[in-house]
Amino acid sequence: MRIVIVGPGAIGCLYAAFLSKSGQEIWLMDKNNERAAKINQQGITVEGLSGNLQARVKTSADVKEIGSADLIIICVKSYDTKETIKQARPLIGDNTNILTLQNGIGNIEIIQEVAGPDKVIGGVTNLGATLIDIGHVRHAGKGETVIGRIDGKIPVEMRFIRETFNKVGLEARISRDIKGLLWSKLIINVGINALTAITRLNNGRLVEFEGMRKILREAVTEATRVAKRKRIKLIYDDPLAKVEAVCEATATNVSSMLQDVLRKKRTEIDFINGVIVRQGQELGILVPVNSILVDLVKTIEASYNLAVEK
Ligand code: PAF
Repeated sequence: MRIVIVGPGAIGCLYAAFLSKSGQEIWLMDKNNERAAKINQQGITVEGLSGNLQARVKTSADVKEIGSADLIIICVKSYDTKETIKQARPLIGDNTNILTLQNGIGNIEIIQEVAGPDKVIGGVTNLGATLIDIGHVRHAGKGETVIGRIDGKIPVEMRFIRETFNKVGLEARISRDIKGLLWSKLIINVGINALTAITRLNNGRLVEFEGMRKILREAVTEATRVAKRKRIKLIYDDPLAKVEAVCEATATNVSSMLQDVLRKKRTEIDFINGVIVRQGQELGILVPVNSILVDLVKTIEASYNLAVEK
C-alpha cells in the first residue's frame, strides 16, 4: 500500500516516522520544495515519549514523482485544506481513501467537495506533538487515533488502516460516530485554544485564574448548546468537567493555537471557535463569548508586526 502523508508539521512528521516502520511504501508530501529536499535527505527525528527515533521517509513536493496513492493522510492546517486537496488531486485514484487528522470542523466537507463523498475518512488524533525544527518533532502526549466515516460504514480498507496503525504503535480504533468524536474534541479546543493564545498561558494555568475559568466555562456552554441543537452525541457527559480535566491533564502543554501565535502564524480559529459562531448564528443560539474570542484572536493575528507606540 502506498501511503502519502500530506503536511510536514508536528503531526505529519510523527505519523510519517511511525508509519515508516509499517512495511508499506510511505511518502511525505510538502508543498515547499526546499524543505521537502531537506527532509528527504536528513530524514525525520522524533524525540520524547516514544524515545529517540530516526526515520527515512521519501519526501517530495512533486505529486508526479509520488504517483497515485492508496491512502492519503491530510495533516495540514485547516485553512490550507482546500488548496492542499486540489494540489493532491493527481494522487487520488479510483480506490484512494483520504483520511483527515486535522483539528476543527469542516475539513471532511472541504475534501469531499474535491474528492467525492465516498473517499473521505474522518479522524481524531489525541497524540500530542511539537515541531522543533524542520523534520524534527517532539512526541509530547500519548493518545489514540480514532477513524470513521460520516455515514458510519466500515469498509475493509478502514480495518486495514487500523491494523497498519496499531502494528507500528499508533493506537487506533474505528468509530461509527466520527461526528460525535470530532465535536467532542472541538469543544475541548473551543475551551482551551483561543484562551491560551490570547493569554499566552499553558493549558493548566487557565483553570488557576477565576476570570479565565469563567470565560472558559461560558465558551464551552455556548458550544455545547450548539452541539445539542445539532443532536451531536458527545463522548462525555459533562463538557465543563471534561475541558477542565483536559487542562489539568495537559497542564504544561503549549496549545497548538498558542504555538501558532508565538510563531506569528495564522491560527485555526475559523475552524474552532469560528464554527460555534457561524453555526450558533444559523441556529439562532447566542454565542457572544465565542464571537469575542474569534475577534480577539483575529486581532492578534492581524497585529503581529505592529510595535507598541510609547
Ligand atoms: O490543540 C491543542 O493544543 C490540543 O488539542 C489540546 C487538547 C488543547 C491540548 O493542548
